[in-house]
Amino acid sequence: MLPYFPFGNEFDHRMGTAPLQAHESLVEVDGDYGHEIAHKRELLSRDHRYYFQAQPDTELAQWDVLGRLLTEAAERYPNYFSLTKSGDKWHWQNHQLAEEQQFTFGDAVTLPLAPLDWVGRQVQEDLVILSADGTATLVAGQLCFPNGWCLDDKFGKTFMGIHRPAPAMVQPTMQAAHKLLERIPAHRPIWRASWNFKITNQLDLSTQYSAGYNDDLAQLAPTLTPATIGDQIFIRIERQTFTRLPRSGAILFGIHTYQNTLASEATNTSKAQRMLGTLRTTPREMLDYKAIAPFEDALIGFLEEKIASH
Ligand code: HEM
Repeated sequence: MLPYFPFGNEFDHRMGTAPLQAHESLVEVDGDYGHEIAHKRELLSRDHRYYFQAQPDTELAQWDVLGRLLTEAAERYPNYFSLTKSGDKWHWQNHQLAEEQQFTFGDAVTLPLAPLDWVGRQVQEDLVILSADGTATLVAGQLCFPNGWCLDDKFGKTFMGIHRPAPAMVQPTMQAAHKLLERIPAHRPIWRASWNFKITNQLDLSTQYSAGYNDDLAQLAPTLTPATIGDQIFIRIERQTFTRLPRSGAILFGIHTYQNTLASEATNTSKAQRMLGTLRTTPREMLDYKAIAPFEDALIGFLEEKIASH
């Protein structure tokens, strides 16, 4: 079951952001931890530059991210992780992976990798750093599980530039989102969840796979019917967090991707109704942009049948 289900009864034109509550964490660990960490590490070893990039002047921000995430992960998930700090000397233990690392906080030579690259291999989240200069420019990232983009596409672009391909109807929302990001105070993160429907549960849907995805979509979509679509379409949810980093002033954008088949989520009328209500009110250009339009009729038919059968 998906831990987040961001479908109201209609399409939400607003940003959908909320403050992260004290009991909520930037890091979430679930049953896919081992598999996803292994997958990330495999991608990074196969094509490091594609999945990790950082401007040289981001080291302070990278340490900010590492400090915050390790501290939080060890507090929230003591069965998985331990962190001992003796001044700048830190000792991290990852019980799940039977690994440990001693290092001097702030001293990059004591870690085997850049701080962001290292910490990203301990958590399921993708981690992106945006500049502190008011433009929210993408200055560093470890990005293994993106939905239709990659660091090469967006590196060095401002927040508004990053969102330029999104439909024109969301551009006013993006201006408001940029203002909101610039106003986030340190230690008061915010979050939102985004949704999509995909024909695969492949986690890494970076740009290199977009043409292949579209070919597969063109082949598969005409074959989907209300009777078959439930097990062939995956709901893809991103839990996105936005955090002002304390010393660098940069912004951390964390993305945790969750997926499940449509059939496993449309298990009760309320959830089926919420998805149906959202889809029916989603503007045409957004259905096209999200590449849902090719199987939209089968999807809506499936949800209608689910509701009628209850
Ligand atoms: C409050 C903050 C944010 C809001 C409200 C927001 C909203 C959106 C919306 C509405 C879309 C269009 C597709 C969809 O609805 O799924 C989108 C796409 C996207 N967003 Fe954001 N976003 C936010 C923060 C960020 C940040 C910090 C990044 C940093 C990299 C980012 C990267 C992207 C990318 C790469 C896309 C796809 C653009 C493309 O098609 O090339 N977003 N976002």
